[in-house]
Amino acid sequence: MRIGMLTGGGDCPGLNAVIRAVVRKGAAEFEHDIVGYRHGWRGLVEGESVPLTLDSVRGLLPRGGTILGTSRTNPYKTDDGPARVMATLDRDGVDAIIAIGGEDTLGVAHKLAGEGMQVVGVPKTIDNDLSATDFTFGFHTAVQIATDAIDRLHTTAESHDRVMVVEVMGRHAGWIATYSGLAGGADMILVPEKPFDIEEICRKITHRHERGANFSILVVAEGATPVEGTMELQTGAVDDFGHVRLGGIGSRLQHEIEQRTGYEARMTQLGHLLRGGSPTAYDRVIATRFGVEAIDAVHERDFDVMVALRGTDVIRVPLEAGVAELKTVDQRLFDTAAVFFG
Ligand code: F6P
Repeated sequence: MRIGMLTGGGDCPGLNAVIRAVVRKGAAEFEHDIVGYRHGWRGLVEGESVPLTLDSVRGLLPRGGTILGTSRTNPYKTDDGPARVMATLDRDGVDAIIAIGGEDTLGVAHKLAGEGMQVVGVPKTIDNDLSATDFTFGFHTAVQIATDAIDRLHTTAESHDRVMVVEVMGRHAGWIATYSGLAGGADMILVPEKPFDIEEICRKITHRHERGANFSILVVAEGATPVEGTMELQTGAVDDFGHVRLGGIGSRLQHEIEQRTGYEARMTQLGHLLRGGSPTAYDRVIATRFGVEAIDAVHERDFDVMVALRGTDVIRVPLEAGVAELKTVDQRLFDTAAVFFG
């Protein structure tokens, strides 16, 4: 078989580990031909590919980013996008696609499956917000980076008697904020799932400081929003999938907290640091297991599926199940984190 592979959406630690796993099993064991499409769906729309051989994946396991490049191109945003994708597959003699991405990339994959594409999805996103899998790869690395940062911010917060606001990624779901806040001992965590009340936050900070604490650490997901009408927010540019560019809630909170409590506050926006660099051992392992399962699925001609982690097993689920709805933070997990607030 001739198999195409692409990485779409935001980059994520572990993408290269998936690529390596697919090629190592696909080329060496099954003797399939593998090509990589450049920059996500854009490579298929524009017909830009590179051969992927055992040589080209050597040394990839620990490397961050994606050797294929990525983009947020949505073929359904141009009239002839899907037709051009199919024409590229025809021209290149590609039988099947392995699409590695989050809700947008895999949403397109599922739509194209409906038009006849033979596709297998691999769930990627540091946000961990894809349904039907317990974890996406990249999430564990992002949480580790955020936790290390929170640990470091603790010592400087303590030394300066400050309120530290730590802004982490998490557009629709606060998984990174909740996990890193829990691991880093945050005094408060704000997530997109729960609109916050700035007055209540300031009251809690004041109460904490009156009881003897000389600093506070507040972790906020970039997608967290205030209860309607309670605090002004800025909005940014919109991408091909209609998502606003986020980032900025941390500095708004720093300002409001300082104004309302009188305590000195500082903000650190971790942003793309959370997506950069080498994957943790855990992410290398699930990315590798996902890659092997994805090529097995293609080899067995089991299409329109997504590989997924369920407990400790890697399984296959209908692709539709992965993209049907976003997986938001589990209430019981958040309640556990909240035990340590204040
Ligand atoms: O989807 C993953 C993610 O890292 C989100 O957490 C974040 O909102 C977004 O990507 C940022 O995208 P970009 O790198 O295109 O600004």
